[in-house]
Amino acid sequence: MAETGHPASPPRFEILAISGSLRRASINSAVLRAAAQAAARDGLRVALADSVRSLPPFDPDRDTEPPASARRFRKACEDAAGVLLAVPEYTFGIPGAFKNALDWAVGSGSLYLKPITVLKVSPPGRGACVREGLSLALEAHGADVVHRSVPVSRHDLDMHGEVDDARIVAELRTVVAELAERARTAAAA
Ligand SMILES: Cc1cc2nc3c(=O)[nH]c(=O)nc-3n(C[C@H](O)[C@H](O)[C@H](O)COP(=O)(O)O)c2cc1C
Repeated sequence: MAETGHPASPPRFEILAISGSLRRASINSAVLRAAAQAAARDGLRVALADSVRSLPPFDPDRDTEPPASARRFRKACEDAAGVLLAVPEYTFGIPGAFKNALDWAVGSGSLYLKPITVLKVSPPGRGACVREGLSLALEAHGADVVHRSVPVSRHDLDMHGEVDDARIVAELRTVVAELAERARTAAAA
């Protein structure tokens, strides 16, 4: 309770979900939408980031006075209690647009100590390189990272491109609940 007698506003608690794919029919983006819906049943808010597409190429000369889109992206990362990432592998690495977003965030320290779950949706035996790339990049950010795997193929999507499999949705719900618990622990520390 604040000294004025007014109740203090509750702390903001939101998971930010960022897809590494700009593709309209992206499996990674569909998985994050499904995770957001599933988590809502536990009262958890998962906001889907839409700013990766609008970020200009990272330029260190603009790092101290970044463009509005980069400021918004940094703030969204800062405000989030935790971050959920689903990033496809491109040419044995991180897709350029997503790496660009990470580069905009490093100077601000927006992901420092941030609880992050990297969700791999590619089938077993695929995606090892992007996992390795993300591990290294997020280590440079000083983020607190765990990796989880929930394989999803295009056959698990319905005709509207949404995840249509109760087992997958249940697994996504567990992944977000675990991230939220880590975020709560981090906030309390
Ligand atoms: C330009 C490009 C490069 C790719 N390179 C790889 C790769 O190196 N390794 C791999 O396992 N998949 C690779 N893929 C396949 C994607 O990871 C896969 O299609 C993934 O599902 C795309 O994610 P999305 O559906 O969320 O867009 C590549 C796809 C594209 C478009």
